[in-house]
Amino acid sequence: MTNIVLNGFMGTGKSAVGREVARRLGWRFVDMDDVIVLRVGKSIPRIFAEDGEPVFRRMESQVCADLSAQERSVIATGGGALVDPDNRRVMMRGGTVVCLTADPDEILRRVGGDDSRPLLNVPDPRARVAELLAARRAAYQAIPWQIETTGLSIEEVAERVIALSHVITLPVSHPGDALSAPKGGEYPIHIGEGILARVGDTLRATRTLCAASASEAIRVAVVSNTTVAPLYAERVMTSLRAAGFEPFTCTIPDGEQHKRLDTVRTLYDQFLAGDLDRSGTVLALGGGVTGDIAGFAAASFMRGVRFAQVPTTLLAMTDASVGGKTGVDLPQGKNLVGAFKQPVVVFIDLAVLETLPKEEVRAGMAEVIKHGVIGAPDLFAELEADQATITARQLARSIRVKIDVIEEDPFEGGRRAVLNLGHTTAHGLERLSDYAMRHGDAVSVGMVAAARIAVKIGLADLALADRIEAVLAAWGLPVRCPACEAGAIYEAMAHDKKKRGGALRWVLPREIGAVEIVEDVPPDVVRSVLRDLGAE
Ligand SMILES: NC(=O)c1ccc[n+]([C@@H]2O[C@H](COP(=O)([O-])OP(=O)(O)OC[C@H]3O[C@@H](n4cnc5c(N)ncnc54)[C@H](O)[C@@H]3O)[C@@H](O)[C@H]2O)c1
Ligand SMILES: [Zn+2]
Repeated sequence: MTNIVLNGFMGTGKSAVGREVARRLGWRFVDMDDVIVLRVGKSIPRIFAEDGEPVFRRMESQVCADLSAQERSVIATGGGALVDPDNRRVMMRGGTVVCLTADPDEILRRVGGDDSRPLLNVPDPRARVAELLAARRAAYQAIPWQIETTGLSIEEVAERVIALSHVITLPVSHPGDALSAPKGGEYPIHIGEGILARVGDTLRATRTLCAASASEAIRVAVVSNTTVAPLYAERVMTSLRAAGFEPFTCTIPDGEQHKRLDTVRTLYDQFLAGDLDRSGTVLALGGGVTGDIAGFAAASFMRGVRFAQVPTTLLAMTDASVGGKTGVDLPQGKNLVGAFKQPVVVFIDLAVLETLPKEEVRAGMAEVIKHGVIGAPDLFAELEADQATITARQLARSIRVKIDVIEEDPFEGGRRAVLNLGHTTAHGLERLSDYAMRHGDAVSVGMVAAARIAVKIGLADLALADRIEAVLAAWGLPVRCPACEAGAIYEAMAHDKKKRGGALRWVLPREIGAVEIVEDVPPDVVRSVLRDLGAE
C-alpha cells in the first residue's frame, strides 16, 4: 500500500475525510490545493484571476507527479485535478484512488457561502454545479472506486476508504486482439475481500472516456452457471444496474462436460434475445469453465465484444482468468477450439471462496503453489510456514508470476510453457483416470514427479524435491501416484505428443523460483520416478 488519493467534486468531503483517514492510519495528510498555494505564493482565486486556469492546471499536473512518488500519504486532490487522464494514471500508479460523490443539493449545502471557490463565483451556483458535474462525470467515473457520501458521516466515509485501500490492483499489459483492442493496452486485475458489490463501478471505469458512451446504458450479458448464479448473480446485477448498465443473465449448465460448442451456441441465442450488440459487454461470473466458454463466446459474437472476468474459483482466480486464453473442448480433446480474448477487467472477490467446496479450494492451491515454485520464493516460504486460508496479498503474488510470464509471451510461443510445471504428468494421470481425477490433484502429483526427475538428472538436489512435496502435502494435496502402471501413465502422457511427433517436454525445478524446460528426459527415468511415487 502506498498512498490513498481522494478525488471528487468540491463539497464531497475530500479534505475532512482525508484528515480522518490519515489520523486513523497514522499517515500524513496532504491537501493538493495547499501545496499549490504554497508553491505559487498566492491564493487559488488569485491564481485563477491573475494567471488563468491553464496555468493552474499545469501546476496541478506537476504536483500530482510529485505527490504520487510519496508513500503513506493521504492526498486530497483538487476537484478538477484528475480530469486529465495523465494525472489520473499517475495517481493510480501511486496508490488507491477513490472518488467521493454527493448529490448537487448536498454539495451546495456543504460549500454554501464559501467564496474561496472561484468556479462557483457566478450568479447561479446551482446551474454551475450541475454543469461542472456533467462535464466531469466521465472523468470521475473513470475511477474504479466510488463512495456516495450523501447522508454519511466523515467517519463512515473514512471507514469505507480504508477498506478500499486494501484492494490490490495489478495492471496487465497485452498485445490486444483483432477488433475490440487492436492496439493492445492494459487491463487491471482487482483483488479484494467483500468487494463484489463494486463490480459495476469498476466495469464502468474501464469504458473509454467519451461522454456519449458514458451516458448511454450499455447491455451486459452476465454469464454464469446453475450453481454460481443463485449464489452471486443478483449481487452483480444490482451493482451493474447501480452503475448505469442494463444487465441480463445468461445461464449455462454446470460442468466441464458442457464446455463445448453447443453451450456456446446457446449463449449466442441468449445474447441475441437480450439485445446484446457491439457496444455491449460479456461478463463471466464463475470458475474456469464459465470463463473459458463465455470468453470464447465474447471473442466470436459479432466478431468480438468486450469481455470482463469475475472468477469465483481459486483456480480461475490465479490461473484461468489471467492471460486471455479462452475456448471449449471437442470430443477429440480438451481446449481444441478457442481464441485469445483479453478482458477489460478481472475482478476478484476472495469472499466468494467461502461457498467453494473444500476440494476445489485445495485444487486451486496446487496452481498457487506451482506459481511459488516457478517464480515466487517469498510466496512459497509463506505457504510452507502457514496453511491458513490464502490472503489477497498472497493471491496477488501468485497472479503476478503468471502476469510476468504472459507479458513476455502473450501468444504462447515459448516462455509460457513454464506455467505447465507439473502438467506433463498431470495430463497423463487425468487421461488415464478418464478425467475423474481432479486437475489440481493431478498437478500436485505432477509437481512432485517433476521435482524427483530434476533430482534424478542432477538438476536439483533432494532437499528441493522434499520441500515441494512437503508443502503440497501440508495443503492436503496428493503427492503419490494412484495405483496404475508406470508404463501406462507414460503412454498416456505421450499420447498427444506422439500424434504430433514431438518429444515430451518437461518443466523441471532447479530451485524454488527457477524452472527449466527440458526435452530429453529418458523415459526410464520418468518411469522409475513414477514407480518411486507408488505406480506399479
Ligand atoms: N483459460 C485458461 O488459461 C485456463 C487455465 C487453466 C484452466 N482452465 C480451464 O478451467 C477449467 C477448470 O476451472 P475450475 O477449476 O474453476 O472449474 P469449474 O469452473 O468447473 O468450477 C468448479 C466447480 O465449482 C463451482 N463453483 C464455482 N465457483 C463457486 C463458488 N464461489 N461457490 C460454489 N461453487 C462454485 C462450479 O459451478 C463447478 O461446479 C477447465 O476447463 C480448464 O481447462 C483454463
Ligand atoms: Zn493447470
